[in-house]
Amino acid sequence: MRISVIGCGYLGAVHAACMATLGHEVVGIDTDENKVSELSAARAPFFEPGLETLLKEVQATGRLSFTTDMSAAQGSSVHFICVGTPQKKGENGADMSYVDAATSALLPYLSADDLVVGKSTVPVGTAARLHEIVRSAEPTAELLWNPEFLREGHAVSDTLHPDRLVYGVLTGSEDHPAVDVLDQIYAQPLKDGTPRLVMDLPTAELVKTAANSFLATKISFINAMAELCDAAGADVSLLADAIGMDDRIGRKFLNAGIGFGGGCLPKDIRAFMARAGELGADQALTFLREVDSINMRRRIRVVELTRELCGGSLLGQRITVLGAAFKPESDDVRDSPALSVAAQLQLQGAVVTVTDPEALVNAARRFPELHYERSTDIALQRADALLLLTEWQEYRDLDPYGAAALVATPRILDGRNALNPTKWRAAGWTYRGLGRP
Ligand code: UGA
Repeated sequence: MRISVIGCGYLGAVHAACMATLGHEVVGIDTDENKVSELSAARAPFFEPGLETLLKEVQATGRLSFTTDMSAAQGSSVHFICVGTPQKKGENGADMSYVDAATSALLPYLSADDLVVGKSTVPVGTAARLHEIVRSAEPTAELLWNPEFLREGHAVSDTLHPDRLVYGVLTGSEDHPAVDVLDQIYAQPLKDGTPRLVMDLPTAELVKTAANSFLATKISFINAMAELCDAAGADVSLLADAIGMDDRIGRKFLNAGIGFGGGCLPKDIRAFMARAGELGADQALTFLREVDSINMRRRIRVVELTRELCGGSLLGQRITVLGAAFKPESDDVRDSPALSVAAQLQLQGAVVTVTDPEALVNAARRFPELHYERSTDIALQRADALLLLTEWQEYRDLDPYGAAALVATPRILDGRNALNPTKWRAAGWTYRGLGRP
């Protein structure tokens, strides 16, 4: 099948490469010339494990190309919209300008019976609106919603082996002709047993925002428990292990720490609240405001704990922050809790050094005032306190004895509860976790 993928960021670049792996002929289209030239040279413009290898493999087959020229979409029968929907500046709602611009730019190149398939996370009602726009340009074209659930850091395997496939179609019914076309596109995952659900457009849009809201709620729930554990002298990690053994609860996404960040969960819950307000259903989602504020409180808590750890004042304290990305296996620093804490500490008079295996270039662009050091050993030298804020494996594996020899004072705040406190204390460290005695 000939497919175009519009928008080649974290979602689109991976989707394009994976669709080509599945045997389709794919053109990725993006307005960013840099991104297109990197992808055309089979280089991933961002860090995503496995993506570069995949790009090299599929480009060798000749089935994958990238361009800035929207007219390349002509001749494809399916067009995936994969552009971003960031938070609007100064507002909670989603900025739909990229989705709207991508759709309008595509219209002149649509042919009879083409499918336009939305994958971006959008406010419910967007698909119905875009359907009208697509239909007015090409009366036989169809708009579908096929939300994406990939996680950064696992994007390739999440795309090739998804938990489920969701098809939103105008009629909401299985016998809609577009269902068969999507089934052909996803023939391999379907053959592997991936469940597939057909539904109407608003339900498909809501599945995505509901899933991300649930995940955010789960994380804030356990972080609220961490606050209580701190107050009561209990251990939130053991609490999570114990409640997580109940199948109905599950242990995943119950890691307490500095909270969630990234380009999805924070802005998605805010856009969801904003959209609920527009629909007159704001009461249904007021709990998400609490989810958001529990999450933001984590960052303040870490700054306060660091001050305590440093004996009551941050002034002149040399703090080394391990991790800048919003989570491990990613170089994405959008709304990174680690960087937000690092910047706060610096503002309050600490001398902060940030290290990270992959995210330093992006971090320096975002917060140029912080000091960055790639080598962990150099970053540790003469530190008055260490903060583990993104749990990369190499930080989990740090040897507490070796690290103690480098720092000025062996004090560590484990912002992800990723270390073994007994081991670190035995090596002479003052260890603080979050919600751990
Ligand atoms: C999230 C969803 O997990 C994906 O399913 C979804 O497709 C994606 O958003 C999206 O909307 O595109 P992602 O933003 O890549 O994926 O990251 P997550 O793995 O969900 O992690 C989000 C944040 O939560 C990170 O900062 C992570 O450190 C934090 N987290 C996660 C916790 O603090 N505790 C946990 O137990 C789990």
